[in-house]
Amino acid sequence: MKVTVFGIGYVGLVQAAVLADAGHSVCCVDIDESKIDALKQGVIPIFEPGLAAIVKENYQAGRLVFTTDPEQGVDFGELQFIAVGTPPDEDGSADLQYVLAVAETIALHMKSHKIIIDKSTVPVGTADRVAEKIKATLIQGNKAALEFDVVSNPEFLKEGAAVNDCKKPDRIIIGTDSSHAENAMRELYAPFNRNRDRIIVMDVRSAELTKYAANCMLATKISFMNEMSNLAEKLGADIEMVRQGIGADERIGYHFIYPGCGYGGSCFPKDVQALVRTANSIGYEAQILKSVEAVNAAQKYKIIEYINHYFKDGVQGKTFALWGLAFKPNTDDMREAPSRVIMEALWEMGARVHAFDPEAMEEAQRIYQGREHLSLMGTKEAALKQADALIICTEWQNFRAPDFEVIKQQLKYPVIFDGRNLYQPKTVEKYGLDYFSIGRQSLNR
Ligand code: UDX
Repeated sequence: MKVTVFGIGYVGLVQAAVLADAGHSVCCVDIDESKIDALKQGVIPIFEPGLAAIVKENYQAGRLVFTTDPEQGVDFGELQFIAVGTPPDEDGSADLQYVLAVAETIALHMKSHKIIIDKSTVPVGTADRVAEKIKATLIQGNKAALEFDVVSNPEFLKEGAAVNDCKKPDRIIIGTDSSHAENAMRELYAPFNRNRDRIIVMDVRSAELTKYAANCMLATKISFMNEMSNLAEKLGADIEMVRQGIGADERIGYHFIYPGCGYGGSCFPKDVQALVRTANSIGYEAQILKSVEAVNAAQKYKIIEYINHYFKDGVQGKTFALWGLAFKPNTDDMREAPSRVIMEALWEMGARVHAFDPEAMEEAQRIYQGREHLSLMGTKEAALKQADALIICTEWQNFRAPDFEVIKQQLKYPVIFDGRNLYQPKTVEKYGLDYFSIGRQSLNR
């Protein structure tokens, strides 16, 4: 099939590349000329395992086309994906200006029936607004007779596993009341819908809410566990034992119950806030979601709490080695990363940071350029040199079995503050290191 994707960011590029890889022809449209030029040269703007190879292969095979010309994009496919960003407004609600601008562009150039697919995470009711925008623009352009469908088809990609998630989705949500659109979407996704039926068709608003409900449920699981870890600390329990104990119940399960220094990324913080705003706007107070957000915000300071407990005289002039800048492993993304809250709090208190991350060094450089109290180090060992203590913010595989002897020798104070519970406390303590991790010790000792 011929498909157009507007917005070649993270979601748009992965979706376009995977559809092309399955044999569809995909036209990618973006207003950012430098990005489109770079893609034509095979330069991928994001780090995502497996993506560069399929972009290159399908571009060379002619199944992926890159352009900044919206008219070319609109003419290309009957299916028109909108995958542009929906950044949070000042008040936390999703800003729809880019989505609606694409809707207008499609209406301006369309000459035949189009199926417009909302792929971006958008508040409930957006498909209706997209439809209104298209209709109004068609009327203005004397094209009122042209017909179109608007479909909600949210993505559920995890950064670091996006290509695989897109190729082997758990479910494909299609929100539409048009049988023509449903059939087209079924044909589009047929290559990803073998062995068992993953397609769930529903009304548009339910599809839109499904996306938010899924992310909010996952964020809730994490904040719930973080709250339990705070209780465990006060009650003298070990949250890791509790985690194993509850996860064994199939109704609870082991996924997304890892306590830590808080969730980050481009989705959970934004989507929880946006749903709180949506609820507010219709006169409903989303009490659980507000608490999920509040618990997470506090959790990002947990490591600082441990540090203040340990360094009773303050950290002015101290240097902290920090392992892990990205919000999670296998990505260079630092949006809403706990590392940022922790580093900024340390700087505020007069401390320095020697940071290392396997992927996010350039991103850290971009965000904190010229920051006096940050040194970006080439390896995790280099970060330890001249450091007083070690902080761990991301559970990269490469951090899981370090040489504790070396850590002990390098640090001026033998202490690790671990925001991801990577080690067994007994193992670390055997090396003469103090060890603070989430929900496993009492601060009253
Ligand atoms: C998430 C959803 O998983 C995905 O379905 C959706 O489309 C986009 O948002 P992503 O943001 O890539 O994906 O990251 P994810 O792997 O879900 O992790 C989110 C955050 O939660 C990370 O900061 C991670 O460290 C944290 N987390 C995750 C925990 O603290 N504990 C857990 O048990 C799981």
